[in-house]
Amino acid sequence: MKKDLLTLADIDLNDLENLFDLTRKMKAERGKSNYRPLSGKSIGMIFAKSSTRTRVSFEVGISELGGNALYLDESRMQVGRGETVADTANVLSRYLHGIVIRTFSHQGVEELAKVATIPVINALTDEYHPCQILADMFTILEYSGKVKGTKLVFTGDCQSNIANSLILGAKLTGMELVFAAPEEFKPRADVIGNASNISWESDPVKAAKDADYLYTDVFVSMGFEEERKMRLEKLMPYQLSMAMVKAAKPSVKILHCLPAHRDEEIAAEVMDSEYSIVFDEAENRLHVQKALLAMLFDR
Ligand code: CP
Ligand code: NVA
Repeated sequence: MKKDLLTLADIDLNDLENLFDLTRKMKAERGKSNYRPLSGKSIGMIFAKSSTRTRVSFEVGISELGGNALYLDESRMQVGRGETVADTANVLSRYLHGIVIRTFSHQGVEELAKVATIPVINALTDEYHPCQILADMFTILEYSGKVKGTKLVFTGDCQSNIANSLILGAKLTGMELVFAAPEEFKPRADVIGNASNISWESDPVKAAKDADYLYTDVFVSMGFEEERKMRLEKLMPYQLSMAMVKAAKPSVKILHCLPAHRDEEIAAEVMDSEYSIVFDEAENRLHVQKALLAMLFDR
């Protein structure tokens, strides 16, 4: 495995299999194991954006693995007052054993990781959210017994960090990924490249046909609040609705990275239905990230 996890392009199928084997173990043995690969290690968690799941699951995970997590509000760091990313990376590498970072610029995280001599984990940028999609794929593996060949339909903002990371996840695993979005929000061709298992459809109900999983994300991501009015106008027809659920397989499951806005990107009746597995998905963030931390630091 590489030093950093900035996008899912940083891992190969072998890493993914090892990660999911370890995740299963972490989940089964939670609270019973004495495995402490982070003992004596301090992980800095730099956050420039809000978070509930990512912050809490990383802090709890680091603590359960014997490590020390430091929450660092980016706006209170000197990098927010003009210190360079490179100087910050150099300094933090002298104190810490790893960095988890949630910020706006993906390029900024790449720069940080390039200079830092310690592992850097992307906890969400404007462009990618790899930890979320690792948990999503693990959840699919638990429910379907496989990821390859399962049909996941994502509706809404198909240019979000979630959508981009789903593309890389589908490229890695061979999952069948169908996007439902208007022209303005269709998935990025430069991220898809020449993958043949990823497609785009403008009619959400047509897209949902025979889906194993239906997935959506907020219409207004953090940092895009100024576009709220335009986004709602264009994206409301792509709400994850009961009509989509009915077009999918009878066994369909609903995914959402959360936080959810009921009756915006997802109908409340879908979010709260028997099809929804969103809290299992959220729980898996903890188990997958613990496995990831162990793989990055226990070597
Ligand atoms: N899904 C996710 O990353 O949630 P938070 O923004 O609460 O961390
Ligand atoms: N696309 C969303 C994901 C939240 C976990 C955002 O960036 O706000």
